[in-house]
Amino acid sequence: MPTNETDKRPDVFVPLAGPPQVAPPSQDIYAAMGEANIFRMLEDFYRALAQSPVHPLFPDDMVTASQRSAAFFVGLLGGPPLYQQRYGHPALRARHLPFRIDDAARQAWLDCFDAVLAKAPELYSFPPQHVEGFRRWLHEFSRWMVNAK
Ligand code: HEM
Repeated sequence: MPTNETDKRPDVFVPLAGPPQVAPPSQDIYAAMGEANIFRMLEDFYRALAQSPVHPLFPDDMVTASQRSAAFFVGLLGGPPLYQQRYGHPALRARHLPFRIDDAARQAWLDCFDAVLAKAPELYSFPPQHVEGFRRWLHEFSRWMVNAK
């Protein structure tokens, strides 16, 4: 992982607004879903990504890729810090720098998550009253992953 983002990507775009100032999703979500449902939700999300315009950015093994993301979402949604335990500090903007992510890529990524969230209460026991807050978090936080114009 580059320590200084300008070293390896001289053309890197940094969102002017800086790191997102958005309320974290409800910490009750994990209690309602549990770890297995979060992993299943992220596996289906990665299945949607594999069919989306951003699929070339992702590796062939989408199940393994989905598990790294799921570990992060377990902690984000109120569970144990699985990502930190398994992979270290998330440093998500830095970890996304090797991939060229522009506004269109962000939108395609959000569209895939929206499709999964539409069925999430039914399929993974996602608490329906917290879907909107989580969607808002994804919408705002994903701005910070944009690194190309
Ligand atoms: C709310 C915004 C986002 C969050 C929380 C998030 C979270 C994550 C996490 C936790 C990982 C795993 C990092 C690791 O390898 O250990 C990851 C990987 C990745 N994300 Fe994101 N991401 C976000 C937005 C985006 C967007 C907008 C894109 C654009 C397409 C994107 C593309 C990728 C790619 C290409 C990988 C690497 C997959 C791999 O090689 O395994 N992400 N993301």
